[in-house]
Amino acid sequence: MTIRKIATIGHPVLRQRSRELSPEELAAPETQRLIDDLVETMRDANGAGLAAPQIHEPVRVVAVEVDRNPRYPYKPRVPLTVLVNPVVQPLSQETFDNYEGCLSVPNLRGVVARFAEIRVTALDRRGQPVDFVAKGLTAGTFQHELDHLDGRLFVDGVTDTTTLTTWGDFDRYHRDAFVERAKQLVDRYGA
Ligand code: NI
Repeated sequence: MTIRKIATIGHPVLRQRSRELSPEELAAPETQRLIDDLVETMRDANGAGLAAPQIHEPVRVVAVEVDRNPRYPYKPRVPLTVLVNPVVQPLSQETFDNYEGCLSVPNLRGVVARFAEIRVTALDRRGQPVDFVAKGLTAGTFQHELDHLDGRLFVDGVTDTTTLTTWGDFDRYHRDAFVERAKQLVDRYGA
């Protein structure tokens, strides 16, 4: 496994639509190595998720894992989930304000409206279909990662630019209020 370099905002690979993988491509050893690298790079950087274009591979693969994450200590636990060719569908029109950050947008956070309940369909890394519902902060995490596959970054969804903040100033000025709101969401929606 290799820890890969993470592309940062401005790199064209983050702004293109990534392509689907065929079942044959998914099974190929080089794709399986890419998935190993994606997971390893996500863990090394303490990401809650990472999308393949962020490691300069414009294919539709994302990894999500949350386990006492120091970047996002308030997020509910999510076991390691690798999604290939994922599709997200909102289950209602209800949204919530999610304070997001991104390994490809260093030292910036901002509020993005996300659907509160989604259904995700995809293949796992072995090509088996997966189909699950995600809610609250976890739904926000999946929507953020899937956006990367269509060349979108969280900053595109920040409608109130006064919410933009460095990580230091997030901790200083915004964190307590957001964590309070996040707790209410977690109570309401669970993990
Ligand atoms: Ni991101």
